[in-house]
Amino acid sequence: QPAQSFYDEIGGHAVFTGIVARFYDGVRADPRLRDLYPEEDLGPAEVRLRMFLEQYWGGPRDYSEQRGHPRLRMRHARFPIGLAERDAWLSAMRSAIDEAPITGEQRDRLWDYFVMAADSLVNQWA
Ligand code: HEM
Repeated sequence: QPAQSFYDEIGGHAVFTGIVARFYDGVRADPRLRDLYPEEDLGPAEVRLRMFLEQYWGGPRDYSEQRGHPRLRMRHARFPIGLAERDAWLSAMRSAIDEAPITGEQRDRLWDYFVMAADSLVNQWA
């Protein structure tokens, strides 16, 4: 029997949907983030991030079926992401995972990943 994925372990679709919904509430509330998002409707971006994270953590592979290879650095290249934007993104994500119904250890695992991933997407050093 295969080991349970982290996706299943933390509660699957419902928990990822909740985290990403709260994250986008934070994006809407922070002009530093909101102004970077090209579309007026953040709904589709919310679905993309949710599908990506579900896939990354061992859940359904809808992201790649709909979007292909993630190539996150390439997909972020057109947005100017400096340290301030990285910190704003991480702050919105921190609030979102703080409210998720998961254990401290699970929260730490998500957080370490988000810090690493956000650092890797910084593309402005001026
Ligand atoms: C897309 C900003 C970090 C995953 C986007 C978009 C923006 C953005 C403006 C376009 C929205 C859209 O999909 O239409 C940022 C900023 C970050 C950041 C400012 C700060 C470092 C991250 C991190 C992850 C991530 C850490 C993953 C852990 C994604 C995904 C998409 C996306 C999956 C959709 C890509 C696609 O399929 O087109 N991001 N992002 N982003 N971001 Fe980020």
